[in-house]
Amino acid sequence: MKHVPIVVLDFGSQYTQIIARKLRESGVYSEIVPYSESIEDIMARTPKGIILSGGPASVYAEDSYHPDATVFELGLPILGICYGMQLISQHFGGSVIPADHHEYGKAKLDFKKENPIFKDTTDGQIVWMSHGDKVENIPAGFEQIATSENSPYAAIANTDRNVYAFQFHPEVYHSDEGSKLLKNFAKHICGCESTWNMGSFAKEQINKIKKQVGDKKVLCGVSGGVDSSVVATLLAEAIGDQLVPVFVDNGLLRANERPQVEAMFKARGVPLITVDASEQFLTKLEGVTDPETKRKIIGETFIEVFDTEAKKHDGIEFLAQGTLYTDVIESVSVKGPSKTIKSHHNVGGLPDWMTFELIEPLREIFKDEVRLLGLELGLPRDMIGRHPFPGPGLAIRVMGDVNSPDLEILRKADTIMLDVLHATGYYDKTWQAFTVLLNVKSVGVMGDNRTYDNTVCVRIVEATDGMTATFAYIPHDILETISRRIINEVDGINRVVYDISSKPPATIEWE
Ligand code: XMP
Repeated sequence: MKHVPIVVLDFGSQYTQIIARKLRESGVYSEIVPYSESIEDIMARTPKGIILSGGPASVYAEDSYHPDATVFELGLPILGICYGMQLISQHFGGSVIPADHHEYGKAKLDFKKENPIFKDTTDGQIVWMSHGDKVENIPAGFEQIATSENSPYAAIANTDRNVYAFQFHPEVYHSDEGSKLLKNFAKHICGCESTWNMGSFAKEQINKIKKQVGDKKVLCGVSGGVDSSVVATLLAEAIGDQLVPVFVDNGLLRANERPQVEAMFKARGVPLITVDASEQFLTKLEGVTDPETKRKIIGETFIEVFDTEAKKHDGIEFLAQGTLYTDVIESVSVKGPSKTIKSHHNVGGLPDWMTFELIEPLREIFKDEVRLLGLELGLPRDMIGRHPFPGPGLAIRVMGDVNSPDLEILRKADTIMLDVLHATGYYDKTWQAFTVLLNVKSVGVMGDNRTYDNTVCVRIVEATDGMTATFAYIPHDILETISRRIINEVDGINRVVYDISSKPPATIEWE
């Protein structure tokens, strides 16, 4: 097993992977392992420090998650975050109780003691709190090093033992100097060096793919999006013509998407195989309105199409996908006990009857990191800058039953909205922009006539990784152009609304 400077034990927080990501930003490689990982397996990674993540449980609940207690006796520096702090307090003899009020949101962190973990950060910095329990008494040997208005023990430390704990989440975006705090732990307390970068990640993945695949072949589903294009490029570098890249036209693509994708791969000299399976998908989706059922059907149909295609080639033993960490964390609990939000189609694994092994080189990284990786691999900038597009395509943007006439309406509205955003420069300033056909009819008046037509919702969001997002502040005149053009140019639409919800509590897609 290779040397992993920091091991993160996962207790099920939605934010665990962001800890690893923030460490990567400081050039420190880390691996996330389930909280129940054996001490032998943790030590085999020869870590210089351990981070205990947050988690949704209470440390005193009967079925709460506890690591092997030996982890506290290894002599390695430890940082506990939120639930991790409560575990540390409980283990070393402090006490944890339910807080009078759940503390959720921003708080000001006031330093009480100088500590290397605070090096070069600001007294009074804003941190993000999200907890229902709090430490009542800190264990002997620990000291309060920072407070917040509602948390007398916002940060504690036992410097002799090199154990540190934060009640807040340094990893989330809203903790202004959280990245620096994590970096301080890794560099100044654990003594890690900054040796990790995207170039080393690319090399590592290419070597891993070579080793895993040997002389066999890999079927890689490509959609023309950034993720699958990056995966296909990694595979092409690793195994050359043992790669079988397949593009499925599922009838749920945007206007002109198929010729654009074909042209892009042709220009790169990659022999793309296009399979037209639109009828197969649309027939199966007929009459289906439940979002999760749609996702399941689409996932299963992709597998069927890939299986049929694979049988046409000898020696395919692997299936490669551009699954990202955000798909994984919101779908299934991969490494730890996180909760399911949506079942992204490319995460559920393969059915038992399918004997392919999965290759998912992007499974642990975030979208913006994939873009950096794409640049590292020499993909063109306009390709790298494409907005994310979900695997289930337009099916999850037509509310209710998915049928060809509605898909056509949506395609037209989407094309207009994208035209306007490209023309005004807002496409490149936003994370994602799309339209949703709402299946909500309302009364309108066009000319002298009453109309009773459908509604299109415009959704434009800003985000850095898709885990959280805010609706974009698009100038009203641009929204007006989008609305006017959609209503004038698309038959069947008489109303356009703008979605002003953020994630959480909404999600980016509607289904
Ligand atoms: P949500 O709607 O969960 O979306 O806030 C987060 C990001 O993921 C994209 N998304 C998907 N991507 N397969 C994908 O490859 C899927 O099934 C899927 N569902 C959502 C979504 O467009 C957004 O960027």
